[in-house]
Parts: sequence; structure tokens; C-alpha cells
Amino acid sequence: MVKVLFVCLGNICRSPMAEYVFKDKIKKEGIEKFYIDSAATSSEEIGNSIHYGTRNKLKEMNIDYGNHLARQMTKQDYEKFDYIIGMEDRNIKDIKRIVGEDTENKIYKLLDFSKNPRDIADPWYTGNFDKTYDDIVEGLSAFLEHLKNI
Ligand code: 4NP
Repeated sequence: MVKVLFVCLGNICRSPMAEYVFKDKIKKEGIEKFYIDSAATSSEEIGNSIHYGTRNKLKEMNIDYGNHLARQMTKQDYEKFDYIIGMEDRNIKDIKRIVGEDTENKIYKLLDFSKNPRDIADPWYTGNFDKTYDDIVEGLSAFLEHLKNI
């Protein structure tokens, strides 16, 4: 079982999008060896449901998003998960502030797996969830390729 935690600032836009797109992707590919979750670095949105922009995009793509409520990640998540994947540089800094040093090399930025490493587009200010979705799909494909090659 490979355990993956996707992380962003609020756990209402980017990381739940990554969580549910990845769950859908591995279901369609018939891969069952994953445990997937998402969480926030901040306490800002704890208990809130997915942002309507992410929800609408997932609906448009026919992807299930369950009963998601935002949660903040904890130091214990570092022990529980094999991969802790942030969306942007700021997330990586904040994750390390929560868990301490990355002694087991578990912390990554999603698009660092791709051929064009960069931050996932943040829809919070732009409202552009299509761009965020495209970035996430690119990152998840590259991440899955990475896993197939190790
Ligand atoms: P997310 O989006 O980190 O992708 O869930 C945001 C959610 C909340 C805020 C910013 C981004 N905020 O400033 O509260």
C-alpha cells in the first residue's frame, strides 16, 4: 500500500482536487494499492467543504468528490504517509514547519515529477480552476510514472 497525502494551504481548492482526480485515475487504471488523502497547512478552512470552483470542475469531469471536509495536517501524518505532496513552494516550507526535517525524503512538490517543474496554478485569486486542473493532471500523470519506475 502506497500512502499519499496531497497538501495545500486551505485544503478546499488544490489538494482536494488532486486527491479526487488521483483517486479517479487509479480507479480507472485498476490500481488498488493506494491510500490517498489531502490536508491543509493552515487552520483557516478546517471543517469547510470543497470550494465551489473545484467542485464544479470535478463535476464537469465526472469525478466523485465524496464528503470532503478540510483538515489541517499534523506531525503524525509524516509517519503515516509515504508521500507528502505540496502544490507550491510555500506549501513545502509550511509542511516542513509542521513535521520538522524531511529525514525520510517523503516531501515533494507535485509538478517536480513533471518535465516542467513549477507551482500548481493557484485558483484562489484568479478563479481559474481549469488551469489548476490541467496542472494537477500533468503532475499526477508524472507522479504515477515515477511510481511505476521505482
Ligand atoms: P487551497 O486554496 O490552498 O488550494 O485550498 C486556498 C484556500 C484558502 C485560502 C487560500 C487558498 N485562504 O487564503 O484562506
